[in-house]
Amino acid sequence: MDSQQKYRKDQSVSKGLYERAVEVFPSGVTHDSRFLTPFPIYVNRALGVKKWDVDGREYIDYWMGHGSLILGHGHTDVLNAIHRQLDRGAHYGACHEIEVEWGEEIVALAPSAEKVRFTASGTEATLLAIRLARSYTGKRKIVRFAGHFHGWHDSVSIGIFPPFDLPNSSGIPEEVLKLTIVLPPDDLQKVEDQLRKDHDVACVILEPSGGFSGAFPLTGDYLKALRQITEKFGVVLIFDEVISGFRYAPGGAQEYYGVTSDLSCFAKILAGGLSGGAVAGRKKIMEYLEFKEDPQWNRKKKILHPGTFNANPISAAAGLETLKIIAQGQVIPKANENGQNIRNILNEVIDRHEINWCAHGEHSIVHIVMNHHCPKQGVCDRGRCTYDYQLLYQKDPLLLTMFRSAMLGEGVDCIGDHWWISCLHKDGVVEKTGDAFEQTIKILKESLPDRF
Ligand SMILES: Cc1ncc(COP(=O)(O)O)c(C=O)c1O
Repeated sequence: MDSQQKYRKDQSVSKGLYERAVEVFPSGVTHDSRFLTPFPIYVNRALGVKKWDVDGREYIDYWMGHGSLILGHGHTDVLNAIHRQLDRGAHYGACHEIEVEWGEEIVALAPSAEKVRFTASGTEATLLAIRLARSYTGKRKIVRFAGHFHGWHDSVSIGIFPPFDLPNSSGIPEEVLKLTIVLPPDDLQKVEDQLRKDHDVACVILEPSGGFSGAFPLTGDYLKALRQITEKFGVVLIFDEVISGFRYAPGGAQEYYGVTSDLSCFAKILAGGLSGGAVAGRKKIMEYLEFKEDPQWNRKKKILHPGTFNANPISAAAGLETLKIIAQGQVIPKANENGQNIRNILNEVIDRHEINWCAHGEHSIVHIVMNHHCPKQGVCDRGRCTYDYQLLYQKDPLLLTMFRSAMLGEGVDCIGDHWWISCLHKDGVVEKTGDAFEQTIKILKESLPDRF
């Protein structure tokens, strides 16, 4: 029996599906992070904070649609909106009323949104934002920060994981990589120096939450200073709010920290658990998407941006309903409170077992760091992590895999080191999660004693 399989019993149907999947999908999966040895779980139903696999096992879900389901699975109003729209047609190949309302809702919520363009995903949103910045400035390079994630297109596939100066994917031409400057995420002087000496930088892109959904958080002061530096050098500032948008505040991190960007990228919560993304921002930059009477403009300046599923009616219906619910104001504080309760219970287990782990974070995301030998251990409040980002991002793949498998065995499905919290992760769910985590730590201490 595989070392991980022993934690996961009675999953012969998932295993059988995986055996078929490897025949049709590379490594049997359709998203890198769903890859899990000896096999992933196959889910066929989800509701609230729970999901069930094809073997009938129940899990508390901390994937929450990769962070897109802050309302939990199957919110009645969102489902009704989807059903209503399905009955009226899935795709009109035409403009429609809900896309207008959806766009208006974004403009109403996000402080920096003057105009909006929908895309089909977060990756497409950052791709479009970078293209807009390049068109607007006429410059080529982008500055990004080590440990921040912006999807998987060529320009941003370097600097995500350590070693930060090497591409995180093969298949990207060196010429493209040379146009992406990766800087440390905590050194404003380096940004200023770069922009002063290099006059070919179109934009600075970052997760305003801090890298990896806020695993290495930033402060409002940092964002304000970065805003000033980019303004000083005429460089477009792009906030990638794919995670923080509609989560940190109804208007995202830009509202929470009181700093506006030139362009913002949204996805995930934006589309209420369906596929969708958006770029929003200043009129004078978004203008590069416009058709004008001047044929020279249309031929030379206008950005090409088609996309079959931009603002598709089903995503628009789910997204609009979700944003309207968030705008009422109760969802985000509830999800934040749940996040704090979950962090507390995990840290109680960590302290009881005297291990070098930490569950940290603010807002409705829980970050787990394993064996990080933090010098602040014991004196840190495990809220705002200020530990060295280079060490924070060093992961132990075997420990992570074993952790995920053992947690599955205990009835909790989590991505490993980032957990997505919804407004429904409360009451008994928190205690059950604490018990599953405690049992998992005991199992791991026994099977991987050298890691503790
Ligand atoms: C901050 C951030 N930007 C962009 C993306 C890419 O979004 P998508 O997966 O919709 O392409 C993600 C996805 O996790 C993300 O976390």
